[in-house]
Amino acid sequence: MLFTSSTRDIPAARQVPRHIAIIMDGNGRWAKQRRLPRVAGHRKGVEAVRATVRACVARGVEYLTLFAFSSENWRRPADEVSILMQLFLRTLEQEVAKLDENGIRFRVIGDTSHFETRIRELIAAGEKHTAHNERLTLTVAANYGGRWDIAQAARRLIASEPDAVRDFAPEALEPYLSMAYAPEPDLFIRTGGEQRISNFLLWQLAYTELYFTDLLWPDFDAAALDEAITSYLQRERRFGRTSEQVQAARG
Ligand code: IPE
Ligand code: IPE
Ligand code: MG
Repeated sequence: MLFTSSTRDIPAARQVPRHIAIIMDGNGRWAKQRRLPRVAGHRKGVEAVRATVRACVARGVEYLTLFAFSSENWRRPADEVSILMQLFLRTLEQEVAKLDENGIRFRVIGDTSHFETRIRELIAAGEKHTAHNERLTLTVAANYGGRWDIAQAARRLIASEPDAVRDFAPEALEPYLSMAYAPEPDLFIRTGGEQRISNFLLWQLAYTELYFTDLLWPDFDAAALDEAITSYLQRERRFGRTSEQVQAARG
């Protein structure tokens, strides 16, 4: 199913966010605080992913999108990049079957063409195997960049609809964005204290509620997720309208 922008209609009454997108930051600092190698933080980060997926399922969140590796993370020392790739590979090997058992649909967004063959095979098999699941869609952003996404969407739009390009409206691009299968995120969470987007979902975050926490990603858990959701529920999403308009539409 293809979703159109969620920013046009009067928002529904406050409810648990359908789509949560997370920048999982702070693994390195978590390890450093404990005088451990950075990889220890990344390993512990995988445990936080498990806890977060479970908590989202329990709360009825429909889409969870996790930023695992940005297109800029190749700039890290080669040994850290290689460790992250190994960890990604092992996590795919060990977790995808469990996702399926729990009714979770698995998707990856990003330019995976530079990943090793085994990783690409595991992604393809995992996506295929879990495509029918409906409880939660877990999207992992790997070698993802928001600018890359917009550029690849534009390239695909031009290739398939050359005549539509001249006066194209923003909506024309949306079917070609890599998350066209999901509604735009309702809630964005970034752990680790930095307050920036770091080239995550640029287009899709246009009207997302932003939440930043100093917690380091390996320390993130169900209680931390609930704090973020509580903050989200206290906000009024107006999408450009006045508060009175939003109240009136809700009756
Ligand atoms: C996030 O943690 C994980 C990735 C970017 C892969 P970091 O590794 O960025 O941790 P910090 O920011 O150095 O603490
Ligand atoms: C963002 O974290 C990317 C991921 C969590 C995968 P970074 O740690 O790479 O972000 P910057 O460099 O501090 O902005
Ligand atoms: Mg970081």
